[in-house]
Amino acid sequence: MHTSLELAAFCKKKGFMYPSSEIYGGLSGFYDYGHLGTKLKHNFEHLWRSFFLGLNDNFHEIETANIAHENVFKASGHLQNFTDPVASCKKCGFHVRADHFLAEHLKRRVEGKTTDEYQELITQNKLGCPQCKSVLTVSVLNMMFPVKLGVGKVQTGYLRPETAQSPYVNFKLQYELLRKKLPLGLALIGRAYRNEISPRNFTLRQREFVQAELQIFFDPQHPPSESDFALVKDQKLKTTLILDREQNKVVERTAQQLVDSGLPEFYVYHLIKIQEFYFQHLKISPEKFRFYQLSDQEKAFYNKYHFDLEIDLAEHGWTEVGGLHYRTDHDLSGHQKISQQSMEVLEEATGRKFIPHVLELSFGVDRHIYALLDLSYEMSKEREYVVLHLPAKVTPYFCAVFPLVKNKPEIVALGEQVYQDLKQHFSCLYDETAAVGRRYARADEQGIKYCITVDFDSLQDHAVTIRDRDSTQQERVKISQLKEKLALLFS
Ligand code: GAP
Repeated sequence: MHTSLELAAFCKKKGFMYPSSEIYGGLSGFYDYGHLGTKLKHNFEHLWRSFFLGLNDNFHEIETANIAHENVFKASGHLQNFTDPVASCKKCGFHVRADHFLAEHLKRRVEGKTTDEYQELITQNKLGCPQCKSVLTVSVLNMMFPVKLGVGKVQTGYLRPETAQSPYVNFKLQYELLRKKLPLGLALIGRAYRNEISPRNFTLRQREFVQAELQIFFDPQHPPSESDFALVKDQKLKTTLILDREQNKVVERTAQQLVDSGLPEFYVYHLIKIQEFYFQHLKISPEKFRFYQLSDQEKAFYNKYHFDLEIDLAEHGWTEVGGLHYRTDHDLSGHQKISQQSMEVLEEATGRKFIPHVLELSFGVDRHIYALLDLSYEMSKEREYVVLHLPAKVTPYFCAVFPLVKNKPEIVALGEQVYQDLKQHFSCLYDETAAVGRRYARADEQGIKYCITVDFDSLQDHAVTIRDRDSTQQERVKISQLKEKLALLFS
């Protein structure tokens, strides 16, 4: 098993991601994506978009400002509640997130406790400052970044700590623009900012990161996809409910069993859709994925139902990468109160007025990129280098074209011709430097799924060799059939 340090070193060496501002020593909690990482990230975002926006014709994507009015976060509750517990040493100035610090020492999760409870746990377990052994004192820290706007009489705005608030403040306008239909989905892929006390674990906990979130606004009397539940009720989900925790079990339960345990059908229906995204599109193997139920103390302050989406990572174990959040009318009611603008909608047939409820599908893009790299990384003993088994739909380059030698102009010309044609249809790379074995190795390290070699025989038989990254098996294919063959392999 590789370590996260090995993965981080590999990611930098290959141009996936690396510390930001590195020539000045880096800036804790900030990372940049290089040429391969950016492609991987865009491919993931594209897949996410096409899957989740495809769930309903009334789901749309919006793009909004990253800095928002102070009142947005007064209304949402973030100014008051978006805090993390911090354990600080008054003597040497050491700070650490109290729940993470305790979890590391007690070897169990300790989320959702009060400041006093964290303090008591620290005292009871005789935990002192790791740097100077002095007393640690627990307090709370608001995680938002305030921003001073303008000059002279400045206004304070906030870098958004989640993308979700933007769709909420846009809701009424978009609802009217989109012919007043519910359910209405507003999706946003964008940056979020949190002043994390202890940013760590590479890109898993940063101060600036990307979220892909879908907010589904609906009438609580007619929840989204209510009639579709019957179609999925027997499908199985990987779950760890509160009752499974002691044995740390992942249990397969049918959708119907989850509904029988007290969850609403519309909520479970979306768990099914999310799992489909992981298994069928991201190709995550079923034993590496689970839905983790949060208790009342642990769930976010705005949620009625809250399951984390978790992936089992090499060094970190089960790690939250997203969540399914039933936020009720918490946010829209808050915005109605503070903005004094009605968030109510009218059911024309009955004259009933109500504030829509929200189901939020929340994904951390950077954590997914990390997870995809982590699960795909294999230090191959046979090949003696890293092979990145990224799924075809997200890998930075799906295929590469290699002329076998570069001193035979006819081979190079045919190679270029094949490349020019393929790059119109697939993400494709052209490489003519070094021996072909070396080029295969470079391609495997970049996760390129198929290498296409144009050789001496190609000039006679008008065929090329396709090599599969994972099996290394090779197949001869006519150039005239290459595009169709690759399209089949891609889909
Ligand atoms: N709108 C709901 C929301 O923001 P969250 O659980 O706080 O919920 C959603 O965040 C996802 O964003 C997380 O599951 C995680 O993938 C990602 N995320 C949160 N904090 C992060 C951080 N500091 N660095 C990287 N990703 C983070």
